[in-house]
Amino acid sequence: MHWVAEKGSTEELATQKLLNAMASPTFRPVMLPALAREALQLSRDPNLDLRVMAQLIEKDQVLAARFLAVANSSFFSRAAAAMSVHAALSRIGLETARNVLLLASVAPFLFAAASKQFEDGMKQLRIHSLAVAAACTYLTKYKGISLPDASLAGLVHDLGAATLLRHVSEHQADFAELVRSGPTMVRVFQVLHPLAGARVADRWQLPESIREVIVGHHAAASSSSLMVKVVAAADGYVHALLGSSARASGGSRCQAYRENRNTEDPASGHPW
Ligand SMILES: [Fe+2]
Ligand SMILES: [Fe+2]
Repeated sequence: MHWVAEKGSTEELATQKLLNAMASPTFRPVMLPALAREALQLSRDPNLDLRVMAQLIEKDQVLAARFLAVANSSFFSRAAAAMSVHAALSRIGLETARNVLLLASVAPFLFAAASKQFEDGMKQLRIHSLAVAAACTYLTKYKGISLPDASLAGLVHDLGAATLLRHVSEHQADFAELVRSGPTMVRVFQVLHPLAGARVADRWQLPESIREVIVGHHAAASSSSLMVKVVAAADGYVHALLGSSARASGGSRCQAYRENRNTEDPASGHPW
């Protein structure tokens, strides 16, 4: 995305402040628990015995309970509730289990805004992320493409947007000007969210192929990664179907954001 902010403008100052925050050793994004990281790595083995995976998840009873709750939620299952992690794993399979695991581990914190004002934007971002993950599964199946990580990549492609939203909502006094000007905030986030996402991906030790998606999903035309192209296509599809930003045919996403925003939430309109 090529955008040069005017020198000394709110946009330039906020961009610099966010870049400094991300580079600081005190920057504390939501972290992926070590056990979840281990389970994600384990899940990359297609011959994995699901009992081994279930035993690992059950080492943390809080995570196991959340895993079951997410796996049994209407988004992932319409069948009778699974009563054990192993039963849930057998039903949803390893590919979906990764998304369930990630959501169970970090969603309650990652998509949580520090103030009510940002709740709508966070909720939209969560729905957007889930929808892009589902669209990735659909696209790869429909096109017969073997990309087992595509759905997980879809789920985390806007990890940076959630991270920036959290940071700004936690430090509102520092970003008062930016928050007041919603469209400016959207522009800053549009430019910075791939970079912010990459920082978090490094801390989570996500595979390079998923990091590439996080960094390149808005520049898919210049990427040689098939997964970047699939996630970008799914992102566009979801925006066209659900997102106000996609209604900006021929216009900017920010314009659509302004037209459709109907709450006090400066992040409402999710143009990510
Ligand atoms: Fe994005
Ligand atoms: Fe997106």
